[in-house]
Amino acid sequence: MSSETRIERSTRAEPLSAALASKGRFFVFEGIDGSGKSTVSRRFAERLTAVGKDVVWTAEPTSSWMGDQVRRANREAESAFAETLLYVADRAEHTLQIRKWLEEGRWVVCDRYVGSTLAYQGVTLRRLMGPRTMEWLKAVNQPIIIRPDRTFLLKLDPELAMSRLMDREGRDKFEKLDFLRKVDALYARLAEDDPSYRVIDASQPVERVLDEAFLMIR
Ligand code: TYD
Repeated sequence: MSSETRIERSTRAEPLSAALASKGRFFVFEGIDGSGKSTVSRRFAERLTAVGKDVVWTAEPTSSWMGDQVRRANREAESAFAETLLYVADRAEHTLQIRKWLEEGRWVVCDRYVGSTLAYQGVTLRRLMGPRTMEWLKAVNQPIIIRPDRTFLLKLDPELAMSRLMDREGRDKFEKLDFLRKVDALYARLAEDDPSYRVIDASQPVERVLDEAFLMIR
């Protein structure tokens, strides 16, 4: 078999939904900075563990060397395209790992995935590429992702999110109100278009957010 054929086969297999590709289940948490998804996704994973599931919690940017490059690009890259492609490269590696976990029958809870690139880089690149941006971002991601069984979008007013972030150190360039408003609007559109999405009001206490997510597992 030529290497080209092999590549084509493997990329074709990747976009299958997690349910079809494996016995595990794949849950993703998305939201703007300050929406609380890191806390909520961890607690969600803990709750699943408590009811007997074999759970892996993971996040993007990843903690691998590639994730380190992403964080570096986030601070230093001049080209928004270079930065975007690094997010995608990190995801391509991460997806292989996620696929293994799912094939082992594990439940995977992921803090940020393809939705983050569509929403954040959707805003950043639109200035450079115009209305073709979303189509391009979807095309670049399509061969390297596994479709989540469920994507929870934690929705929080960007001003409230900003005020939560002010309390933290190390704000990055994304954590600006105007930018977050645009990202928030794009997330809302993604949630309308993608049937894996469920929107949760993230201004509620964490326990309530978790209860809602649990009710929407199926
Ligand atoms: P974040 O979840 O805030 O990580 P941490 O809690 O460790 O700071 O993600 C870091 C930033 O990266 C965040 O502002 C969103 C951005 N990001 C993108 O722009 N595109 C992507 O594809 C991903 C995964 C993250």
